[in-house]
Amino acid sequence: MQPHVSAFFDEQTNTISYVVKDPGGSACAVIDSVLDFDYASGRTDTRSADAIIAHVKNEGLKVEWLLETHVHADHLSAAPYIQERVGGKIGIGDQITTVQDTFGKVFNEGTEFQRDGSQFDQLFVEGDSFAVGQLRGDVMHTPGHTPACLTYVLGDTAFVGDTLFMPDFGTARCDFPGGSSEMLYRSIQKILSLPDETRIFVGHDYKAPGREEYAWETTVAEQKARNVHVGGGKDCESFVAMRDARDAKLPMPKLIIPSLQINMRAGKMPPADEHGDVMLKVPLNKL
Ligand SMILES: [Fe+2]
Repeated sequence: MQPHVSAFFDEQTNTISYVVKDPGGSACAVIDSVLDFDYASGRTDTRSADAIIAHVKNEGLKVEWLLETHVHADHLSAAPYIQERVGGKIGIGDQITTVQDTFGKVFNEGTEFQRDGSQFDQLFVEGDSFAVGQLRGDVMHTPGHTPACLTYVLGDTAFVGDTLFMPDFGTARCDFPGGSSEMLYRSIQKILSLPDETRIFVGHDYKAPGREEYAWETTVAEQKARNVHVGGGKDCESFVAMRDARDAKLPMPKLIIPSLQINMRAGKMPPADEHGDVMLKVPLNKL
């Protein structure tokens, strides 16, 4: 099965959101949607999500799933906004509970913040499958970047989130709480054991040095041959040494503080105060 894939690139956060469609019908899944956010003004905007909703309506699609590959630290999820307008169930990995536990503490969330993943409609584990019309989706648990990261395999496509990036850019950082470069290496090997012709769609692109255009589609064969971090049969030990040294120098993503507070709630906002206003926290010297 070769699903139709439409990509939506957000230049503000270098995120690619996808609409994956059953080739034999109108069912689709939306993967890693973006709610635009201007940190300086504290304003959200729905232009990226509205572009996806317009595509769904123009093509006459039925949204079955709103899938998150993980709790993103660099953009806000628009899954609840899209769900309210065109439906679909919000799914993520069951290890979200670990992430909720970690960041529930960092943000000193009270007992009203449930750490059982109940904000999501579906918690997936390794080996689960789901349906997008006639198209079957399979779930691979691919931790490393975060403990809850999933890869969604639908027909000949794999949506790998932040595990692999384009071959000339490499792999994702592993230094967030619960991350592990050794775990990421093992997860990547699992992805690379899919058939060579599998189409891989990455969660971000930053244009590698020397590349003029953004790109997000590659294959297992290409990644195996020339991924700059893991290609050519790179061993685990040298990958871990490279990844950890690199991660030690990376700044925090610009939107990590708002993103985590919202995405650990499945993209829903924290409860409003007595005036109906929503506030986010900035924990000092915690991250
Ligand atoms: Fe990420």
